Amino acid sequence: MNRPSWLTCKLCILLFAAPSVVAQKATPIPVIAQRGAAKQLIVDGKPFLMLAGELHNSSASSSAYMEPIWPQLKALHLNTVIGTVSWELMEPKEGHFDFTLVDSQIASARKQSMHLVLIWFGSWKNTSSMYVPIWVKRDKQRFQWAQQHDPPTPDHPKRGLYALSAFCRNNQEADARAFRALMEHIRQVDPQHTVIMMQIENETGILAEARDFSPAAQAAWEGPVPDELLAYLSAHKTQLLPELATTWQRSGYRLHGTWSDVFGTDRYAEEIFSAWYFGKYADAVASAGQKELALPMYVNAWLVQNEKQIPGDYPSGGPVSRMMDIWHAAAPSLSLLAPDIYIADFEGTCDSYARNGNPLFFPESRPIPGNYVWAIGHHNAIGVAPFAVDDLKPDDPLGQLYEKLEGMMPVLLKAQETNAIVAIPPRNSGVITIPFEGFEIDARYVTTRISNSPPATTSDSANGRRSQQAVAPDVSITSGALATGQTGYGLIIAAGPDEFYILGRGISLTFNRPASETNDWVMYDFEEGVFLNGQWITGRHLNGDEGPTLRRLTLPDNGLVLRRVKLYRHVGPGSVG
Ligand code: DGJ
Repeated sequence: MNRPSWLTCKLCILLFAAPSVVAQKATPIPVIAQRGAAKQLIVDGKPFLMLAGELHNSSASSSAYMEPIWPQLKALHLNTVIGTVSWELMEPKEGHFDFTLVDSQIASARKQSMHLVLIWFGSWKNTSSMYVPIWVKRDKQRFQWAQQHDPPTPDHPKRGLYALSAFCRNNQEADARAFRALMEHIRQVDPQHTVIMMQIENETGILAEARDFSPAAQAAWEGPVPDELLAYLSAHKTQLLPELATTWQRSGYRLHGTWSDVFGTDRYAEEIFSAWYFGKYADAVASAGQKELALPMYVNAWLVQNEKQIPGDYPSGGPVSRMMDIWHAAAPSLSLLAPDIYIADFEGTCDSYARNGNPLFFPESRPIPGNYVWAIGHHNAIGVAPFAVDDLKPDDPLGQLYEKLEGMMPVLLKAQETNAIVAIPPRNSGVITIPFEGFEIDARYVTTRISNSPPATTSDSANGRRSQQAVAPDVSITSGALATGQTGYGLIIAAGPDEFYILGRGISLTFNRPASETNDWVMYDFEEGVFLNGQWITGRHLNGDEGPTLRRLTLPDNGLVLRRVKLYRHVGPGSVG
């Protein structure tokens, strides 16, 4: 058989290389940028909302395992998958890299026209060092581990740590070298930016203790607070979050001395010390990667679970909201600090992270549509994501939400930018008033729908069994309190003068003008519809039984719906006031 000529080979290379060269020129790198009233993630040069989901930790370690999952995720209308890269699998021998699993995630995401956020499971995962390569684990001399207080005391009971020390330069350098190699590889294979963001480590901090007691850590604790941190504190003194200001205030806002001179000797002081060094470590890893490819990067937090916990009960030094100032000072290469929200206080958590200019994104949470709608409408979240998205069934309500948000994305992102969006928080009962676009909107949490009669029981003569068969709904409207466990929620976008798009369920709305005009505003042109690529496509024109009752517009509690409504001021004869 003839061997291919040199010319044939060269032609082949040109043919295969050409598309990616063209793509590389065309695709700007993702960034997080302030646009009007909102900080937004810009992908392909346009604002982008991550309708995301995070995979189980081990899913992406097998391309074969993932193969049937990708189409499922697409069917749920995800536009972004949060995948993983494990240091131990990527660098099984020091300096020898295997990017097979990275490449297969990129190829699969592209095939589904989805984006990727990749978690770097490097030195720490949930505070432990379970993902570090075996050549790191074995060399205790070169790679130092965090230590507990020795000897144990009642305040420092022995619990066992399985964590690299953040104070060992060899650890940091090996992690940063590997991460840099990863980013170099992504730069080479992904000029079209399928990968839009990177997570550095996973839920850092130290458990059991509020700080590391290894010799290097002890020396740092006894040493001076670095000038870099003191300069940051001094420059930002009036904008510091109250949690940090309160601890620092105990020393009279001292600007020199050891950690205990400046912050005190308790666990809250130790938490600041730990946050600084974990932040510096993450910053060194992120900035090493950004030398190759400057994607937006973030860290995620294992949250304080309840008010009784003190640092060490939760990971001390991790990016919990009370430590945001320290992380901002230590890690300027990070674009945001992200909460993993499993606790009940979803709204309080978002409030606490949407401070000091931190864009809101939660890579892990429970798939609760009302929470996501609220975070997007109230805090301009740049993305939302449940954990373990590979477990969700195709008919999960999250898919219906993502489908609707996907279509309305250009309108929604423009509304974030122009402050033309408001959220109705998820609640089970009561009424709240939301000022918006000159109206005071009363939102009531109620169940209202075209009455679904209970299914009639009929006999199935073919097989002699009894079966259930739904009868056609009659047209009466039922309304009352939402059932236990049900929530109403929504968001409203200003579509034009006295015109609104409304996404929601389980609420009934009245639009009032303050004071004298209150009862003059009546609804008309009430439509159901969908957004397709940002264009409103009208469905039924809702009136009569399905329409608003003059002043009250009701979104049923048995499914998420999209509506457009206009209002006009009805004065004089026939007034409803
Ligand atoms: C939080 C971690 O960040 C995830 O990787 C995963 O372990 C979940 N907890 C499990 O609930």
